[in-house]
Amino acid sequence: MSSENLNQIYNKISSVVPEVEWKFHAPLIEKINKLKTEKDAVILAHNYQTPEIYHGIADISADSLALALEAAKTKAKIIVLCGVHFMAETAKLMSPEKKVLIPDMQAGCSLAESITGADVRMLKEKYPGVPVVSYVNTSADVKAESDVCCTSANAVKVVESLKSDKVIFLPDHYLANYVQKNTKVKIISWQGTCMVHEKFTGKEIEDIKKENPDIEVIAHPECPPDVISASDFAGSTSSMVNYVKKNQPKKVLLVTECTMSDNVQVDNPNVQFIRPCNLCPHMKKITLSKVYDCLKNETNEIKIGHNIAEMARKSVLKMAEIGR
Ligand code: 13P
Ligand code: SF4
Repeated sequence: MSSENLNQIYNKISSVVPEVEWKFHAPLIEKINKLKTEKDAVILAHNYQTPEIYHGIADISADSLALALEAAKTKAKIIVLCGVHFMAETAKLMSPEKKVLIPDMQAGCSLAESITGADVRMLKEKYPGVPVVSYVNTSADVKAESDVCCTSANAVKVVESLKSDKVIFLPDHYLANYVQKNTKVKIISWQGTCMVHEKFTGKEIEDIKKENPDIEVIAHPECPPDVISASDFAGSTSSMVNYVKKNQPKKVLLVTECTMSDNVQVDNPNVQFIRPCNLCPHMKKITLSKVYDCLKNETNEIKIGHNIAEMARKSVLKMAEIGR
């Protein structure tokens, strides 16, 4: 990567990355981009990754559905998933022949940790014959016990595709609530929550709206119901990005992990972002130096036992077939 390209990246993100930090990021960005070519690797990054990852090294930055679909499409030999563990596991399920690496194995998710395969078996015994839709924010064990997966981008579509009058939808209680409001299918939910989105309150959003009467509020469906009711739009992280790109609101509040506002601000300089800042500690475990180490040494490879992988793959492939 030439110093001209590096300068271009910095010019782009200088409003959200201080110069003092850039001095540490620049050499790593250069080395990672070189390694990617040498090793035929692709970097898939979630929208919550830091601006130096999102704008500096990612080949694709997207929501969890698009990351899963891109993992299946890529021709690269190695996938480095800059995101959390369930995203890397999903990439491996979509592309079993590829080497899938995650820069930090401890990058988890409160939703994925809220339920086990044994819990799903228990639910299936309690509600015999009722199909199970699991959010991709789950382990491969949970996916293996499910009929189909979904993300926040296609949850309602996936639920309705099953043509059943009742569906077990897990593990996010608030996403289940959001789906219930948008379908006639009866939703049986689980008590999982996202530790980032559950912190927002309807009162906080109403207060921000009072102080900023011209603001547009867009929320992730993992938020509590009163937050979604106080918002103008709800959708997956990429739907939120697209909403800003298309509508160019004067002032906007993205009710989600707050790094995403930095990333979207860079591409939409005329939009003013108001942000109460809730960070995902798991997403923030991914750093440039960990990306460099894991790609250089090809460490932190995702492995899934054969039987679980075969069963879980069916659920993610079914989701991919349904699409967005
Ligand atoms: P998206 O699928 O909307 O990107 O959300 C993933 C996630 O973890 C949100 O907290
Ligand atoms: Fe999980 Fe919430 Fe972090 Fe997304 S933001 S990875 S749902 S804990």
